[in-house]
Amino acid sequence: MKKIFVFLFLSTQTILYAQFSELAQTPPMGWNSWNAFALNINSKIVKSVADSMVSKGLAAAGYQYIVIDDGWQLARDKDGKIVADSTRFPEGIKYLADYVHSKGLKFGIYTCCGTQTCGGRPGSFGYETIDAKTYAEWGVDFIKEDWCFTDGLDTRTQYKIMSDAIKASGRPMLLSLCEWGVSSPWEWGKGIGAMWRTTSDIQDCFDCESNWGGMGWVPILELNANLAPYAGPGHWNDPDMLEVGNQTLSPIECRSHFSMWCMLAAPLIAGNNISTMSDAIRDILTAPEIIAIDQDPIGVQGIRIRNNAGLQVWEKPLHDGSTAVALLNVTTSIAQMEVTLEEIGFQKGVVSSVRDLWKRKDLAPIKESYTVEVGSHDVVVLKIKGKKSTVSKLAFEHSSITLNKGNHQLVQLSVLPSSTPLIVTSSNDDILSLSRAGVNTYWISALNEGHCFIKASTSDGKMSTTTNVHIVPMTIPSPWKFDDIKDNKASVTSENNIYSIESGGADIWGTSDQFAFLNRGVVGDNFISARVISQANTDPWAKTGLMLRENTAPNSVFVMLCVTPGNGISLQWRETIGGSCDKKDLGPASLPAYFKLSKKGSTFHAYKSFDGKQWDSLSDVTMNHGFSEKYLVGLEVTPHSSHKLNLSKFDQVVVEPLAGK
Ligand code: GLA
Repeated sequence: MKKIFVFLFLSTQTILYAQFSELAQTPPMGWNSWNAFALNINSKIVKSVADSMVSKGLAAAGYQYIVIDDGWQLARDKDGKIVADSTRFPEGIKYLADYVHSKGLKFGIYTCCGTQTCGGRPGSFGYETIDAKTYAEWGVDFIKEDWCFTDGLDTRTQYKIMSDAIKASGRPMLLSLCEWGVSSPWEWGKGIGAMWRTTSDIQDCFDCESNWGGMGWVPILELNANLAPYAGPGHWNDPDMLEVGNQTLSPIECRSHFSMWCMLAAPLIAGNNISTMSDAIRDILTAPEIIAIDQDPIGVQGIRIRNNAGLQVWEKPLHDGSTAVALLNVTTSIAQMEVTLEEIGFQKGVVSSVRDLWKRKDLAPIKESYTVEVGSHDVVVLKIKGKKSTVSKLAFEHSSITLNKGNHQLVQLSVLPSSTPLIVTSSNDDILSLSRAGVNTYWISALNEGHCFIKASTSDGKMSTTTNVHIVPMTIPSPWKFDDIKDNKASVTSENNIYSIESGGADIWGTSDQFAFLNRGVVGDNFISARVISQANTDPWAKTGLMLRENTAPNSVFVMLCVTPGNGISLQWRETIGGSCDKKDLGPASLPAYFKLSKKGSTFHAYKSFDGKQWDSLSDVTMNHGFSEKYLVGLEVTPHSSHKLNLSKFDQVVVEPLAGK
């Protein structure tokens, strides 16, 4: 009896596993309420969109999911079960799910890992099991889980809790992670969810970038250009929902936006009002040959093979041996654009077929290259098929690399064709560790002094190349030490008393930090002063400056005086371990400039200077919970982005006891 039970249990698990992994074999397609309706969503709108999905041909084109975003929840009942807003959804959510199913479509819902959703409704924190069970009872097929109100929480842990709760519910429901790319979900999201947002929210504009991080589709495309290696059947990078058919984008910009999302093998989640859209917008959203690129069964995300000041050439290998090519012009003028057979892996001199996928027309065959005029903000999408060429180039950018122990470096390979799969290894993992950083790009980490080499070879082993790596001692003078807090991308070098610090990391803010910290231990009241020579303009909130910090834990207590590219000088602090941060903005700055931060008891004073002699007081802050006697003082750098690096330079660094100063 027992044996039979175990067998039954195992086979149910296997079936369930199979069902979950089948959910997103190609990028999910559907509609979500947020971009067009924000919190003003109701049952009438959802029903009308479901009707239109069918009547306007979107369902036939492949769109499946109807997802209600934020704004449907109201409260929890005495048993903790989520209660929908009965004014907006008078018949309840199960009714809507049934309605959507009756149209042959699938139904999705939104929640949040935190205590509240971004719109202030009840979140799923602590209620994951009961929420997953409730959604399963309602017949939900898709769950988007956001990341607001998550102070002190860890992304992987929280999404895993929901993922497990969904599996335990027994109903295959697709989990869509929405932590805005802050903890590089492409590195860990596979198996937890079927898709993960890679950036902050898309805005209804071509290339705008807001101070808080939201941006138009062109900068989002940029941030996804290097993420191709992380996507594939069942696990997709999500550059956010479409803005096609909303207020601002021209029809041409909508067409380019849609084309590029298809080149990225992105989930195609329409974000407009399907019920009232024009025929022109419907024709974009349902373009069959463009959608076929997105839905191609081998599920390879496209890569950019060239970008000449906004003239971008992208390619995406397809299952039938052909290659989709997008010639995208994000400049303000019309341009002549070209793609060669050689760069997309076909033999030159041999006839290749070319089809224009928007015109749905075969063009004259080519033997070398294809050239076409592309209008401003427009795109031409082609499908090219020729005779496969062998790899004609494989080389490291540098023939030899010297790295200080403890530092990291990006290593780039030149490969032709660029989409060639490679195997890259270190000859000595004790000296040098290696990890993927993107398309033909790897991070190397210098673990110990010594010599070794990195080898890159094609997967058939027919072609290979190496580069020598020398790991030499760290150059920073004692008593300084260098900490890369929650990120493995930082480097420091010191030469002629100039410290160059390069760092990755999402931010120093919230309840947990990601940054580089060159620091030393001190006791009692001290000050640090330094000249900030330069800062990489990676993001309006990239931070370069001085910090006093209780320890190197990512959630520890600190005070920081920093300069930013877009928000001037800022004094920021965290008063309690894992507490959230606070700030005072102190006006504009131009670099180079001197900064000083001192601690006297629990009060911290911030100063700036143009010459390092005459100090202007900027502001101060008192830490109401005190500050430890022994602490760290030093230089901090963060790019305020998990996609970028901030290289900052400092000199004239002074750390001294405060007495008499
Ligand atoms: C966040 C998400 C958006 C949307 C809103 C809802 O900003 O990133 O996509 O779900 O919350 O409040």
